[in-house]
Amino acid sequence: MSEYNRKDHLYQKAKEEGYRSRAAYKLIEVQDAYKIIKSGNSVLDVGAWPGGWTQVALNYVGDSGSVTAIDLQALDPIDDPRCKLIAGDARDLEQILGTNEPSFDVVVSDMSAKLTGIKEADQAAAVGCAELALYVAQQNLKQGGNFLVKVFKGGDVEGFVKSTRPMFNKLLRSELKSTRNTSNEFYVIGLGFKR
Ligand SMILES: C[S@@+](CC[C@H](N)C(=O)[O-])C[C@H]1O[C@@H](n2cnc3c(N)ncnc32)[C@H](O)[C@@H]1O
Repeated sequence: MSEYNRKDHLYQKAKEEGYRSRAAYKLIEVQDAYKIIKSGNSVLDVGAWPGGWTQVALNYVGDSGSVTAIDLQALDPIDDPRCKLIAGDARDLEQILGTNEPSFDVVVSDMSAKLTGIKEADQAAAVGCAELALYVAQQNLKQGGNFLVKVFKGGDVEGFVKSTRPMFNKLLRSELKSTRNTSNEFYVIGLGFKR
């Protein structure tokens, strides 16, 4: 059985509670601790398939908020007028959205690249995903907006964290309880984007 499908506690819980992925609990954990999404916010979810974070974000944005979710892989429909799903590459987001006006209060990215098994290549690809997410945030976040990005230990991740720090009023790093204990991922949380 693949790592993704291992039937651990959160995998079962996600099935029972109707979340599309166990990853949903990571965004819930961040939200409980840092309240990065507020009612009325418009949220951009980058690397969203199968849509666990999208579902969770919808729970927090209230009636007037919205969630735009993009992934290389098309998400199954979510029947909610507050939700917009895009099948595409986050690199092409400006073209896809047709604007370069910053219009999101929150950018969240759980993006990860397909693993090759070659350590150096996988580390470089992981940092590349985090850098792409940061670029997307820089283009799309409103002044004062919040940012959440998954990163992996190794490669030049410390360089990534260091270069991200000045862009936010506060930068935090968090190893989540809901992350599988075999993973070396952690999350970087930027509060208060300085445009
Ligand atoms: C771990 S999954 C996301 C899980 C999701 N947060 C959830 O809760 O269901 C990572 C996703 O990042 C996507 N991804 C990787 N590179 C991307 C890119 N350049 N543009 C859009 N999505 C990308 C992959 O297709 C993959 O579906």
